[in-house]
Amino acid sequence: MLISVIGTGYVGLITGVCLAKVGNSVCCYDKQESIIKSLRNKKATIYEDMLDENLFQLVGQNLSFSSDINDEFLQQSDVIFVAVGTPMSDDGSANLSYLFDSVKSLAQIIKPEAILVIKSTVPVGTCDQVEKLLHNIGRQDVSVVSNPEFLREGSAINDFMYPDRIVVGIENNKPQKTLEKLYSPFIGESCSLLVVNRKTSELIKYASNAFLSTKIAFINQISDYCEKIGADIEGVAKGMGLDPRVGSLFLKPGPGYGGSCFPKDTAALAYLGQQASTPLTIIESVIKANDLRKKESLLIKLKNHYTENLKDKKVAILGLTFKENTDDVRYSPAIDFVRCLLSEGALVQAHDPMGIQNFKQLFPEVKYNNDVNKVFDMADIVCLLTPWPEYKKINFRGVQKEHKGKIFIDYRNYLTEDHVNQAGFKYIGIGKQYD
Ligand code: UDX
Repeated sequence: MLISVIGTGYVGLITGVCLAKVGNSVCCYDKQESIIKSLRNKKATIYEDMLDENLFQLVGQNLSFSSDINDEFLQQSDVIFVAVGTPMSDDGSANLSYLFDSVKSLAQIIKPEAILVIKSTVPVGTCDQVEKLLHNIGRQDVSVVSNPEFLREGSAINDFMYPDRIVVGIENNKPQKTLEKLYSPFIGESCSLLVVNRKTSELIKYASNAFLSTKIAFINQISDYCEKIGADIEGVAKGMGLDPRVGSLFLKPGPGYGGSCFPKDTAALAYLGQQASTPLTIIESVIKANDLRKKESLLIKLKNHYTENLKDKKVAILGLTFKENTDDVRYSPAIDFVRCLLSEGALVQAHDPMGIQNFKQLFPEVKYNNDVNKVFDMADIVCLLTPWPEYKKINFRGVQKEHKGKIFIDYRNYLTEDHVNQAGFKYIGIGKQYD
């Protein structure tokens, strides 16, 4: 089977790599020449576990890259995945201009009876619109399939190779056999192929991300309540998670969810609810609660434990990315927190194993250092925002004298009090009372 993938962001690139890994001939397309050049040279354009190794193995074999969608490979492809970005517009809706532009171009090129698979996260009804567009251009022969992607940054290849479900949205049986064949290497005891109609498939993606966001916003509020009344969030989350109806995953309190999906997808779903005169008030509250956490609560906690007046205080931030094992800072809690700190006149210094380059573009005024010890050596107060494994390896005993009495706020409950206090810090976690 010849497979083309349009868009080499997280979803497109990983889809291309993994479909090539199981033996298909795949070409990934992107308008940006620099991306294509790098990928052809087997150099990943995003930081992702095992990506470089896979590019090294597959490029030159059955995986190729091109910036020319008029090439022969695309014209002969049986299945074309569309995985272009659908960024958030100012009103919260998803911007579909990249998607429709791609479809218009593809309509002129793809072979008769080709299957167009929409992998981008799109509002309910988008695949119907794509089909209408194709019909207007005279391409009634093309099948449009919805096939949302559930991979996580940082474990994207593993998530694609070992999924818990593959969702396919179709309106007639024509493309089903091809999709079943294409995905057969990934289907097993722990993964089934769920075939539904297109709108259902589109909504599964939004509803899944909104539900997970809700879990996080919920546990974060319970964590705040624990701090007030003297309960311990770790115990509460553990006790809740033991009930299989609740489940133990996505119950870790933190500085709020970020990344390229949850903020965008919750906003898009809330917008869709409003459009359909069915306000999704739970999702709207989740968005509000998460915004409040990132834009106010983190700072309030710091002020409560340290000082109201942050002018010229040196604040060290450990972790800038929205989560560990990625260089992605999109909608990272660190962005709102650093903005608050700077507006209060604080002097911010920061460390992150992978995210400094991206963060620097947003905040050139922050002082960055690749040596985590140097970052908190100079600081008046330290705040951990991202649970990078590197931070577990810090030798707090080795830096004991310099930090006597300084506050270390761990907004992820990632380190332990005993560990951090070896350096003389006063450790403050979240969801628990500290004197
Ligand atoms: C998410 C979905 O998990 C994935 O299925 C979808 O395809 C894309 O969006 P991703 O954005 O990579 O994946 O990150 P994820 O690991 O889900 O974390 C999202 C945010 O929630 C991060 O900011 C993370 O730190 C936070 N989080 C997660 C918590 O605060 N607590 C948790 O218990 C889990």
